[in-house]
Amino acid sequence: MKKRKEVAQKPRVVTTKRVMTMKETGEKIAMLTAYDFLVAKYLDQVGIDIILVGDSLGNVVQGYETTLPVTVDDMIYHAKAVKRAVKNALIVVDMPFMSFQTSSDDAVKNAGRIMKEVGVGAVKLEGGEYIADIVRHLVKVGIPVMGHLGLTPQAINKFGTYEVRAQDKREASELLNDAKVLAEAGVFAIVLEKIPALLAKKVTESVKVPTIGIGAGPHCDGQVLVVYDMLGLTEEFKPRFVRRYGELAEDMRGAFRSFISDVKSKEFPSGKESY
Ligand code: KIV
Repeated sequence: MKKRKEVAQKPRVVTTKRVMTMKETGEKIAMLTAYDFLVAKYLDQVGIDIILVGDSLGNVVQGYETTLPVTVDDMIYHAKAVKRAVKNALIVVDMPFMSFQTSSDDAVKNAGRIMKEVGVGAVKLEGGEYIADIVRHLVKVGIPVMGHLGLTPQAINKFGTYEVRAQDKREASELLNDAKVLAEAGVFAIVLEKIPALLAKKVTESVKVPTIGIGAGPHCDGQVLVVYDMLGLTEEFKPRFVRRYGELAEDMRGAFRSFISDVKSKEFPSGKESY
């Protein structure tokens, strides 16, 4: 029998345009965060659509209580490491607190630095209607923007808690309006964080751009998680929306204990591990 020639599947490069098309075709968007070279490399190897260099790095990498201390330089440092590893995924970088809220000019200057110095595909901004002019300006100068509504951790001092947002009618209708205004201002996608599933459904049906949920139920066009949460590294953090796909904290402790024990007992290194 004649052997069939295997046609190697060309890995797809994900662009903001492609992400928008995925809403039309109904293909769900998979997004995870990364802050370093190796995690980004493995995510890219297995076909993640979007890698978010989130300012959650303030919590999970730098150990701050909130994301507020994160700087543009921090984001650029981590985004550069991610960028070196990625061939196909779309990389989106968070604009940290006070790097864009002050003025459209500051937003362009800081987002411009991220785009120029790192070479990523887009930036993400937290906020609703009040940042629409800034979004419009960024998009106009050629910087694609992802929006972020609902629980916006940069506003923690305003809300005072990390509880589910938009549970009452007024806040829900405000959020729906924010999503419509952001879509009109030119965002290519919107993250919906920790809001009721039915509200996320309504938003998803009301805007042309894809919604990407985190704690926003199953009706969004895509889903995102913080990579250390889904790997079980942030083991004390157990909100209901995090599904654990690994228990790496326990695995790491086990590996470290074995190393310590092997060193103490002179079991490591062996002859085979020596020159
Ligand atoms: O900073 C981050 O990781 C995020 C995600 C939780 C969406 O904004």
